[in-house]
Formats: sequence, structure tokens, C-alpha cells
Amino acid sequence: MRLCLLLCTLALASGQGFTNPKKPAAVARKEDVKYIKCQACEALAKNALRQVKAAREGLKPGKKLDEMTIIEKVEKMTNPSKDEGEWIAKTDIEEEGSILKLVEHSEVGECNSDCKTIAKAVEAVIGDSDTDIAEELWKGTMNRSQFTNWLCHRQTDSCRSKPPPVPADRKPGPEFKVMDAQEAQMQKMMENMKEMGMGGQLWDRDSAMQEVAKGELGDDYDDDEITDMLSAGAPTASEGPGVLDKASDLAQDVLKSGKEKLSAAYTGAADLLSGWGSGDKPADTKTSEL
Ligand SMILES: *[C@@H]1O[C@H](CO)[C@@H](O)[C@H](O)[C@H]1NC(C)=O
Repeated sequence: MRLCLLLCTLALASGQGFTNPKKPAAVARKEDVKYIKCQACEALAKNALRQVKAAREGLKPGKKLDEMTIIEKVEKMTNPSKDEGEWIAKTDIEEEGSILKLVEHSEVGECNSDCKTIAKAVEAVIGDSDTDIAEELWKGTMNRSQFTNWLCHRQTDSCRSKPPPVPADRKPGPEFKVMDAQEAQMQKMMENMKEMGMGGQLWDRDSAMQEVAKGELGDDYDDDEITDMLSAGAPTASEGPGVLDKASDLAQDVLKSGKEKLSAAYTGAADLLSGWGSGDKPADTKTSEL
């Protein structure tokens, strides 16, 4: 709740938000995992090798990559909002007759149901093999084709059998849509906060706004009224006196508490928001008057 106040205040201050009603989160199509598991495994092998190689190259001379670091990396490789799993958000599922094809894009896309499905497939590939995968990556003795063969044919059965044909009546997935760079950054930040145990159930700006308004307005309003208020614009004096001031005061309190993590988060949020004004998103005139 406190974190939310912080973010919401920042969001309010930036003149953003108070716009869209909540966007429903995309969900994986679990029934599609079997069609893409082998390709997801091959893509994982490629990206895992690439990332570990880059991490090694980034080390100071004489330093060695430790296995724990690689285990942590592997764990994040299934998460599209982490750097390690970003490749998933750059990958799209395309329908091609009776097969589903994974296609790589150069930019990060919105994590729609295709992205969630790929993440599920990668999770299924990794399964209980995370430490074995990390160990092999740590040893670093295999080239790409050897590692792919090991991961997808031997360690796991991801590519051992041909995927079944996709039924003709399967509903095609969503189009790949490049994600707004600031939205991507915001998501990454939320993800990091969650990792630090601060995010709670926060997912996006709109839910954050909803939460702060709820906290401030209390029991006098139900969820729907708050949603209406938010989508209509800022609460008026009669609807929610001093909401902004209160949120801002609380955010200040949180900062003053001097918790390192929070202030790091705040800096992150502030940096992020300072970029928002220059973005291509039109500012909401109603809220920018605040
Ligand atoms: C990978 O290593 C194997 C065994 O050393 C070798 O036969 C193969 O040509 C190598 N593949 C590539 C792409 O370098």
C-alpha cells in the first residue's frame, strides 16, 4: 500500500494515469504448449548460451562466473519482464498451416497470450532441470548444437517427438505488438520491486491508482465508483478532498523512513517518470492541471 502511494503519487505528478480502465492480464494458452515446446527449448538453449557468454565476457580479467549466478539467471529466463527472459517478450507465435512457429522480433512486444504461452513452454522445458542446466552452462564446454541436443533431446524430452498437428479450428493468437518503451521500463521496475518484497499485488499503473484512491477515499466509495472517478478524471473537491496532498505527504513519509530499498525504488520511479513527459503518449489534460 505504501509503495503504491509512492508510485501513484509519482504517476499523478507526471500527469499520467486516470485514463484507461484496468486492462485484463493476458493468460497462457496451455493447450498450445505441446506445439511449441521443442522450439521453445531450442530458443532457450540459444539465449541461455548467449547470455552466459555475455556475462563471462563482461567479467574482469581473471574472474570466473560462479554457478550461483548462473542458477539465478536460469530461474529468470522464464520471466518475460526480466532481462534474462526478455527474449520471450521478443518472440511471437505465428500460425503456419498445421504448425505453430516461434518467430523472433528485434523489439520487445507486449506480453500477450502468445508471450505467456511461450513462457509456460520454457517453464515446462526447464522443469526440475534448472541446476543441471546451470551446471552445464557453467562448464561451458558445449557449442550451440551440442547444448541444444543435450537440453532438448537428452536432459529433457522437449524435442524427442514431433509436435502434433495444430487443429484447423484453433483460434489464431494475437498479433505481435511492440511495447511502448516506457511501459516496458515501468514493468521491469514493478518486477524488481516485487522481487524486493515491495510490490504486493501491484501490476500496472491503473491498478496502482485504483489502490491509492481506495486507500484515501476509504469505505465511502465502492470499487466501481472509484473506477468511474478515476476514468472520469481526478476526484473533485467534493468527491475526495486532498487526495493528492495526502498521497504526496505519505510518499514523503515513506521516503523519510530512510529505507534504502524504497529510496532506490523512488529514484528508479522518478527517473522513469522524468522520461514520461518526453514520451509520445499524449498527456491527459484533465490530470495535468493538478
Ligand atoms: C560443435 O562441436 C562438435 C564437436 O566438437 C562439432 O562436431 C561441431 O561441428 C560443432 N558445431 C559448431 C556449429 O561449431
